[in-house]
Amino acid sequence: MIDICEMKALGGGVFLMRLAAPEIAKRAKAGQYLILMAGETSERVPLTIADWDGKAGVVTVLFRVEGASTRRLAAKKAGETLPHVMGPLGMPTDAGDAKRVLIAASGMGCTAAHAHLKALLAGGAQAAVVVSEEENDAPVLLEEMKDLAPVETAAGDGTYRPVCGAVLEKLGGVDLVLAFGPAQMVKAVADATRETGVRMIAGLRPLVIDGTGMCGGCRVRVNGKYRYACIDGPQFDGHAVDFDELIGRGGFYRRQEEEQDAHLCRLGIGRD
Ligand SMILES: Cc1cc2nc3c(=O)[nH]c(=O)nc-3n(C[C@H](O)[C@H](O)[C@H](O)COP(=O)(O)OP(=O)(O)OC[C@H]3O[C@@H](n4cnc5c(N)ncnc54)[C@H](O)[C@@H]3O)c2cc1C
Ligand code: FES
Repeated sequence: MIDICEMKALGGGVFLMRLAAPEIAKRAKAGQYLILMAGETSERVPLTIADWDGKAGVVTVLFRVEGASTRRLAAKKAGETLPHVMGPLGMPTDAGDAKRVLIAASGMGCTAAHAHLKALLAGGAQAAVVVSEEENDAPVLLEEMKDLAPVETAAGDGTYRPVCGAVLEKLGGVDLVLAFGPAQMVKAVADATRETGVRMIAGLRPLVIDGTGMCGGCRVRVNGKYRYACIDGPQFDGHAVDFDELIGRGGFYRRQEEEQDAHLCRLGIGRD
C-alpha cells in the first residue's frame, strides 16, 4: 500500500499526485517511470516520474484522464492509498557527457522534460526547454520549468513544425537534444535534427502492459532490432527509432479501449 500525500486537479483533466514512497524516491532517476494501480483489479497505468525528493521520500506523477484507468486514479484523494505502485522502472536516461542540452516537449511529455531538466542542471549541464503549445495537448509544469531554466514556447499547430523550427534555431553549441511528447512530435524533432550531427534522445510511450519485458507489448524497432521500451527504454536514440511502426501500433487497441470505457462490468471487475 502506498499513501497518496497530495492530489491536485490542475485543470484540463490533468491531475498531480504525490506519493509517499521512500524506497522509490531514493532510487529514482530522470527517464524512469512507475506503474500504478488504482485498485486491486484495476489496469496498470505507466506514468513518468515527474519529480522526486529522496530526503522527503516523495515522488510526483502527473496524468491526464484518458480512459477508464486514469479516471479511476483521478477519483483518488489525498489520505487514501494505492494498492500497488511499482518502480522506479525503465532505464535512466544516459546523457553522456553532454554539456549543453536542449529539451523539446509537448503536452504530458513536459513531465519527463521537467525530470530531465532538474537532473541535467543538478549534474552541471546547461539546459533550455522549448515547449509546443498545442490546443488539445496543453503543456504542464511550465512555471516549475521556468523557475529552473530558460523556457520558450512555440505555437502549436498540430504539425509540430514551429517547435522543430525553434529547436533548429537554438541548436548552435548544443550537444544533445531530448524530445518528449506524442510520438508524432518526437518523430518530428528526430527528423528535424537527423542531418545536423547532434545526438538526439527520444522519450517514447508505447503500450506498456507488464513493464517487465515479458509481454512484448511495448516493443520498438531501434536500429532494425526490437527493444522493449519498458526495460530497455523508454528513451532511445531518436535517429534510430522506427517511428512509422511505433505510430502504426499506437492505435492497435483503440476499439477495445473505447469499449472498456463504455462498459460497466456487472460482476464488479475493475470497479474497486
Ligand atoms: C513510459 C510511459 C510513461 C507515461 N507517462 C505518462 C505521464 O507521465 N502522464 C500521462 O498522463 N500519461 C503517461 N503515459 C500514458 C498513460 O500510461 C496512458 O495515458 C494511460 O495508461 C491511459 O490509460 P486509460 O485506461 O486511462 O486510457 P485508455 O482508454 O485505456 O487509453 C487511452 C490512450 O492511452 C494510451 N494508453 C493506454 N494504455 C496504455 C498503456 N498501458 N501504456 C501506454 N499508453 C497507454 C493509448 O494511447 C490509448 O489510446 C505514459 C505511458 C508510458 C508507456
Ligand atoms: S510492457 Fe510487456 S514487454 Fe514491455
